[in-house]
Amino acid sequence: MAVQRRGNVKSADTSTIEKKIKRGMAQRQASPYRGYSALLLALLCTCALLTWLWSVWTNDIMDTMVSRGEVLTQPRVFMVQCSEDYQKYKHFPGCTPTKCGRAVSDSVATTDEAQILKRIAERGLALGGSDGGASILDLHSGALSMGKKFVNIYSYFSDQIRDIFTEEDFELYRVMRGRIQKVIAETFGLDSSKLFLTKPTFFSRINSTSAKTTHDEYWHPHTDKVTYGSFDYTSLLYLTDYGVDFGGGRFIFMDPNSNRTVEPRAGRVSFFSSGSENLHRVEKVAWGMRYAITVSFTCDPDYAIADPSLP
Ligand SMILES: *[C@@H]1O[C@H](CO)[C@@H](O)[C@H](O)[C@H]1NC(C)=O
Ligand SMILES: *[C@@H]1O[C@H](CO)[C@@H](O)[C@H](O)[C@H]1NC(C)=O
Repeated sequence: MAVQRRGNVKSADTSTIEKKIKRGMAQRQASPYRGYSALLLALLCTCALLTWLWSVWTNDIMDTMVSRGEVLTQPRVFMVQCSEDYQKYKHFPGCTPTKCGRAVSDSVATTDEAQILKRIAERGLALGGSDGGASILDLHSGALSMGKKFVNIYSYFSDQIRDIFTEEDFELYRVMRGRIQKVIAETFGLDSSKLFLTKPTFFSRINSTSAKTTHDEYWHPHTDKVTYGSFDYTSLLYLTDYGVDFGGGRFIFMDPNSNRTVEPRAGRVSFFSSGSENLHRVEKVAWGMRYAITVSFTCDPDYAIADPSLP
């Protein structure tokens, strides 16, 4: 009996609570804010969905090979199968790519050296500069972007060029070229003495200004061996930092199943065999200034060039 009575009391309590809940729900349903909260909830859901889709989409097409924040203590190397591009050219044992790939090293140049190189680029490019967002300065040929064309700084500025560049500047370039050549040879198992500097080799400065001529269109996917037949190994020495000095401007290796990015960092060197196994592009720069030097190597002595020097 006692048990049953307690049961009755409980059920009476429950029904009172149920009534209260129902009344509350009815009041809430009548509330003029109910429509707004539903809308807010829908908006929140849409935002969450979009954020999720964005993260899935960006992860899908971008896979970070080396981020700006990490500092590599030894080269990070990724081997890939060589393309057939090299077969169209003469084979140079100990140099022509038989092992292909890409690598990144943070031990080739110090940040101080990168800083000095950046100043060289700034001084040189201050003499001209493209109307579009991409300017180059080639210390070997003297080519400098100016407006919609190029001028030769060595003839255009003749003796005054010695007020802008010093012997030490060129010496630093030579030292960098030597170190890059060494790390390429070590990484790909080559005889360093069989690699030669080739042209073009240049400083580049990119900002977000829109392109005025095709020379400013640096973002198209391309293969260096196809663009410049002489290239066998390409290297890039970065002089500014991704996300700090500029946004966008990541280097992207375009593989069939993924896009792999290298985030520039001052002093970082990225190098790779120049064939279509390393099809790549540079993401458009969104803000700031991106400085880099392209140093390219050939196996063919006919395409060798001397280190740049002051005339
Ligand atoms: C790589 O990026 C390009 C756009 O730059 C895109 O069209 C392509 O689908 C991406 N590839 C993969 C596998 O995500
Ligand atoms: C890009 O650089 C050029 C040359 O220094 C300059 O005239 C232009 O204003 C810059 N653009 C932006 C968006 O900063």
